[in-house]
Amino acid sequence: MKRLATVAVLSMLGISGAFPAADAIAQRRALMHDDGIAAKKLFDMAKGTVPFNLAVVQASLKTLATGAEKTPLLFPDDSKTGGGTAALPAIWENKADFDARFAKFNKDVAEAIAKTKDEASFKAIAPQVFENCSGCHERYKAKSN
Ligand code: HEC
Repeated sequence: MKRLATVAVLSMLGISGAFPAADAIAQRRALMHDDGIAAKKLFDMAKGTVPFNLAVVQASLKTLATGAEKTPLLFPDDSKTGGGTAALPAIWENKADFDARFAKFNKDVAEAIAKTKDEASFKAIAPQVFENCSGCHERYKAKSN
């Protein structure tokens, strides 16, 4: 029942059809990979090593928003291993906490999109966005990846 609901939500999001576990792993890894690229741009601008660019910041935040929305749906029970996944078993033992972290990540990114008007407002809110990455990875992602 739960799995059927997940599939329905996924197809609404335009993620195709019934998904074998390997697809879920590949899709969540691809979304996280995009997050990594977007976060690197944001991180460099927050540190000031790359000049601030509002359009790039907003586009990168949108990439994170897409990831925050789609990724939590890509951890079905049968996708604990395989596909080079770095997901830890703790995810399925603490699913409510894991999902709550994605919800908070989504909320913080939405807030950053709304509040970022210039370099100063971006730098003020950026740490709040980045905290979500390390907080979740510490508990739920294997270090060796
Ligand atoms: C709520 C949990 C959570 C949050 C928040 C989160 N991640 Fe992840 N991330 C994961 C998990 C779990 C994996 C391992 C997925 C797998 O291998 O199946 C992962 C994997 C990755 C990977 C490796 C992708 C690959 O190639 O396999 C990158 C890069 C990454 N995350 C970047 C980020 C960045 C940057 C942020 C913040 C902007 C972020 N993540 C936020 C849980 C999270």
